[in-house]
Amino acid sequence: MDKFLIKGPSTLKGEVLISGSKNAALPILASTLLFDKPVVIKNLPRVRDINTMLNLLKSLGSKIEFFDNRKKVRISKSKKPKYFASYSLLKTMRAGILVLGPLVSKCQKSITSFPGGCVLNGNSGRPINLHLNALEKIGMKYEIKKGYIYARSKGNLKGKSLKFPSISVGATQHLIMSSVLSDGKATTLKNCAIEPEVLDLTNFLKNAGANIKWIGKRTCQIIGVNSLNEISYSVMGDRIETGTFCVAATLTKGNLLIKGFDPKLIKTELDLLKKTGATIRLFKDQIHIKGPKKIKKISHIKTKEYGGFPTDCQPQFMVLMCKANGKSEITENIFKSRFMHAMELQRLGAKISIKNSKATIEGNTNFIGAEVMSSDLRASAALILAAIAAKGTSIVSRVYHCDRGYENIEKKLKKVGAKIRRVN
Ligand code: EPU
Repeated sequence: MDKFLIKGPSTLKGEVLISGSKNAALPILASTLLFDKPVVIKNLPRVRDINTMLNLLKSLGSKIEFFDNRKKVRISKSKKPKYFASYSLLKTMRAGILVLGPLVSKCQKSITSFPGGCVLNGNSGRPINLHLNALEKIGMKYEIKKGYIYARSKGNLKGKSLKFPSISVGATQHLIMSSVLSDGKATTLKNCAIEPEVLDLTNFLKNAGANIKWIGKRTCQIIGVNSLNEISYSVMGDRIETGTFCVAATLTKGNLLIKGFDPKLIKTELDLLKKTGATIRLFKDQIHIKGPKKIKKISHIKTKEYGGFPTDCQPQFMVLMCKANGKSEITENIFKSRFMHAMELQRLGAKISIKNSKATIEGNTNFIGAEVMSSDLRASAALILAAIAAKGTSIVSRVYHCDRGYENIEKKLKKVGAKIRRVN
C-alpha cells in the first residue's frame, strides 16, 4: 500500500493545471450506456474511480478505446450488451449504481450490486433509497437478493412527475439519465440537486439530442426521445481539486495560479478564503491566489447543497481553520459524521472537538509532522495539506483513497514546491 512521505513546512508557489472533474465524468460515463452510436469523452481525469467505471462499462459489453494518454476515450456499444454489474466492480465506488437506471432503460433489465465507496456517514451508511424509490415511480420493478438489485421494466421507462423527498446529487443524475429515452408524457423532477456536475451531465445529454429543460431552480423536465446522437464532449474541470489547491495556497502563505477552472462555480469557497486574508484575482478559467501572512478565522462554516459550502471541501477547510487565529466551528449537514480526518489532524497537533454534526476547532495550531492515516478521499487531501504545513516529516498512509479522485496529486504538489514522495 502506497504512502506519502512529506517534509514541511513548504510555501507553495507556481502554476497548477486542474484536471477534469471525477464527479462530473462518472455519471456522464454511466449514461453512455444509453447510446447506440459511439461517444467520445475528453478531459477525463486519470484517477482510479474513472478506471473502475470504464472497467464496469467494459464488463457490460461497451468497447473502450483510449487516446491522448487515457484522457480521451471512445465508447461504442457492443452488439450483445450485458446487464450484470458485479459486486467486485461496485464495492469500491458508489457511483457504480448509476448504471442501474440506464441498463433498465436500454435493456429493460439489470442485476446490479449494491455499491460501496467512501464511508462518510458512520452507521447510517450511504443509502440508495432515493434512487430506487424514484426509479420505481418511472416504471422500474425490483427486488433485492443477496446484495444485488434485480430490476426490470415492462417496455420503456415511463415519464412521470415526482419530487425527491430530499436533495441528492446521485439520485438526481440517475433519474435524469434514466428518463432521457422514456415513453409517454414528460418526466418532471422536483427538488433536484443543481451541483455543477449535474448541469454538466444535462449539458452532455442535451448536446446528444436529449430533451431536458430546467423549468425552475430545482425542477428539471425531460421529454423522452427515441435515441441519442453521436457526440464528442469535454468534461468540466474539477471543482473540489480547485478548492483543494486554493486552500493549499492560503494555508502555506503560497502564491498559486490555478488554471483550467471557471472561478464563478466556487464563489462561496473563494469568498470564505478572502475572509481569511487571501488575495484573490479571478480570470476566465484561472484563479490567482496568494495566502496571507496570518490566517484570519472563519467563525462558522455550514456545509450545504450547491450554492452553499460543499461537504467535499470541508476537511480541507478544517485544516485552514486549525491554523487560523481563533476558534471556529463547522457544521456538517450533508454527511452528518464526516469527521474522520479530525482525529488524524489531532495527531499532527490540531485541537478539535466533535459533538454530533458539529466540530469546534481551537485555531492557532502549529502542526508538527507525524504518521497519519487517510480514511476517505477528501480526508486524505486534508491530511496531505496539513503535512505540507507541518514542521518535520509526516507519513500519510492509505493514499489509495486519494488516488480514487486526485490525478497525480504528488506531481502537482511537487511542481509548486511541496516536498512529497510516494513510498510503499
Ligand atoms: N442520501 C440518502 N439516500 C439516497 C441518496 C443519498 O439518504 O438514496 C443521503 C446521503 O446519505 C447524504 C445526502 O443524501 O446524506 C446527500 O448525498 P448525495 O446523494 O447528494 O451524494 P452522492 O451522490 O452519493 C455525490 C458526490 C460526493 C459528494 C456528494 C454531496 C459523486 C460521485 N459523489 O455523492 O463526492 O460528497 O455528492 O455533494 O458525485 C467525493 O468526491 O469525495 C464525494 C464523496
